Amino acid sequence: NKVVLAYSGGLDTSIILKWLQTTYNCEVVTFTADLGQGEELEPARQKALLLGIKPENIFIEDLREEFVRDYVFPMFRANATYEGVYLLGTSIARPLIGKKLIEIAEKVGADAVSHGATGKGNDQVRFELTAYALKPDVHVIAPWREWDLRSREQLIAFAEQHQIPIAKDKRGEAPFSTDANLLHVSSEGKVLEDPAQEVPDYVFSRTVSPEEAPDTPTVISIDFAKGDAVAIDGVQLSPAKLLARLNELGRDNGIGRLDLVENRFVGMKSRGMYETPGGTILAVAHRAIESITLDRGAAHLKDQLMPQYAELIYNGFWFSPEREMLQALIDKSQEFVAGQVRLKLYKGGVHVIGRSSPYSLYDQDLVTFEEGAVAYDHRDAAGFIKLNALRLRTLGQRKRKLGL
Ligand code: ARG
Ligand code: SIN
Repeated sequence: NKVVLAYSGGLDTSIILKWLQTTYNCEVVTFTADLGQGEELEPARQKALLLGIKPENIFIEDLREEFVRDYVFPMFRANATYEGVYLLGTSIARPLIGKKLIEIAEKVGADAVSHGATGKGNDQVRFELTAYALKPDVHVIAPWREWDLRSREQLIAFAEQHQIPIAKDKRGEAPFSTDANLLHVSSEGKVLEDPAQEVPDYVFSRTVSPEEAPDTPTVISIDFAKGDAVAIDGVQLSPAKLLARLNELGRDNGIGRLDLVENRFVGMKSRGMYETPGGTILAVAHRAIESITLDRGAAHLKDQLMPQYAELIYNGFWFSPEREMLQALIDKSQEFVAGQVRLKLYKGGVHVIGRSSPYSLYDQDLVTFEEGAVAYDHRDAAGFIKLNALRLRTLGQRKRKLGL
């Protein structure tokens, strides 16, 4: 029996690795992905070897381009935010990791997969819905829901008993839990659990504080094609490189910090702190290019559907027919979402200062207060308003008659 484990190389997933070997007596296959979390992957290989994993059972993959091209960018076409503000940085990475776990399981003939998400959160749901969707008969092992290691002391004792190396700073309780990839870093738990208390400075890792950002603004341009960003300041970049560059620009200018209390799918509220520097810039820029290239009907329809689309991603339903149907609609809307947006980045703010497109629907002739356009006759507006007012006048008359 084989099980494929989503392995970060950290202490917790190393404990899970040993626990799987000893509890299920199974052959463990590890999968470690580079999603742009900013950590070397070779140490994870060395650690897996040290813990007795066979070289052919260690899978390490650089997924940065696939992550941004096939997950982040499609999501940004929708301007997706959960509960108004969360740019879904953790949510969107889980289906990709889940998909790779299943691909590796098929390749090595494993019938089970395992992950290090706790029994209280969203991530367990996202990993497992993905796994079941792509391999309906898969067994899922979620150690945090199964084992009786109830405290940090017990975990450390288990690690010591099994010769798992423990970094000095990992002996004590971690001050908070993080999840990182190219789109964001999220921090939750422990010192962040009281939503009345301000997030301490040391939690932030991807942005300078807006107060410390430069006193002079940074002006950039972003080019779009079919709804996706393709260039910064005229330089074409691959999806992952482009997002990495936006992250640098966002970091330096204190952009993309978010302190949020959100509703988890499993029912409780949780408080998190997010840093999404590049994504925050991209979201503003994308809306700006849509503002001149999308028709009102198309724009408003996709805005109405957006919360539902975002909730599907948040809840782990990336691989569902309803998400795919909405994606087809959103992708169709992006056909002419192309052109350039100019932005000013300044002390935490992202300000649009210009937008242009070969497909622009903006008609200066039509909108100008000067005499101009032939397609618009002022006199038409009178009848337009009168007919739209018809219902309101009828209602108004009834109100008066009833003395309300
Ligand atoms: N609350 C976020 C989400 O559900 C992040 C969860 C993972 N974050 C973490 N710090 N472990 O998408
Ligand atoms: C976890 O519980 O593993 C992280 C938080 C979440 O999944 O919501």
